[in-house]
Amino acid sequence: MSNPVQEKSQQIIPAVPDVVSLVQITDCHIFATAEDRLRGVNTRHSFEAVSKSVIDNSGHLDLLLATGDLSQDGSVESYTYLAQKIDAMDTATFWLPGNHDEVDVLKEQFIGQQIHAAKHVLIADWQIVLLDSTIRGEVHGRVSQIQLEFLDHCLRAHPEKHALVCLHHQALDTGSLWIDQKGLRDSDQLRENIARHDNIRGVLWGHVHQETHQTIGGVEWMSTPSSCVQFKPDSEEFAIGTEAPGYRHLNLYADGRITTRVHRVDGF
Ligand SMILES: [Fe+2]
Repeated sequence: MSNPVQEKSQQIIPAVPDVVSLVQITDCHIFATAEDRLRGVNTRHSFEAVSKSVIDNSGHLDLLLATGDLSQDGSVESYTYLAQKIDAMDTATFWLPGNHDEVDVLKEQFIGQQIHAAKHVLIADWQIVLLDSTIRGEVHGRVSQIQLEFLDHCLRAHPEKHALVCLHHQALDTGSLWIDQKGLRDSDQLRENIARHDNIRGVLWGHVHQETHQTIGGVEWMSTPSSCVQFKPDSEEFAIGTEAPGYRHLNLYADGRITTRVHRVDGF
């Protein structure tokens, strides 16, 4: 588990217009080789379709967020491929790890002009906090005391800014028993911490390979489809969904509102 306080932990993006426009891409599951497939999907091809759709349909973008499982096999080649593709999107990109990632390789190889390791991003009237919910060698996750303290530290430092909190594992159950058993073991603790801060407007994650969105107590709780394979919603046991690869676009407004929409790509 990395300690974000020990990393270059804060990045300030110069002032932008009233609305911060960003895209979340998640669960890319890239392999070392170009031919490998996950459940029949070539994850490089689906990522390239997603990135093309982001460029074609998003208009001006301030940020990209990559929320874990960037690689399927933790290989050097998977991260260098993805870094090259992300850099070509020409948008400041921030990342956090997922359970499939090899964090040490990710840190060393997922490098580019547009790729930043900072886990606390200040942009216009907003701050984005990226948490590491991974446990080495495990599929399920835990936010841990260090990460919760980092979250509190960021939010206390900037109470004047609205906050979007990002992590890999689901902060709320999806209703699919099998994936919820592989979720966040300390999600109650995370939700308690979130409830203590009245400037948190959104919580965003991946891992569940499907779109969910609930508004609870003025906070938007959102999961986002994978850029490759989807999981079938509301399934007790592991099952693949038929939905196309996708991503989520978000607008963050100066008054704290979030508007968001999931986009899917054609041809998969
Ligand atoms: Fe995943």
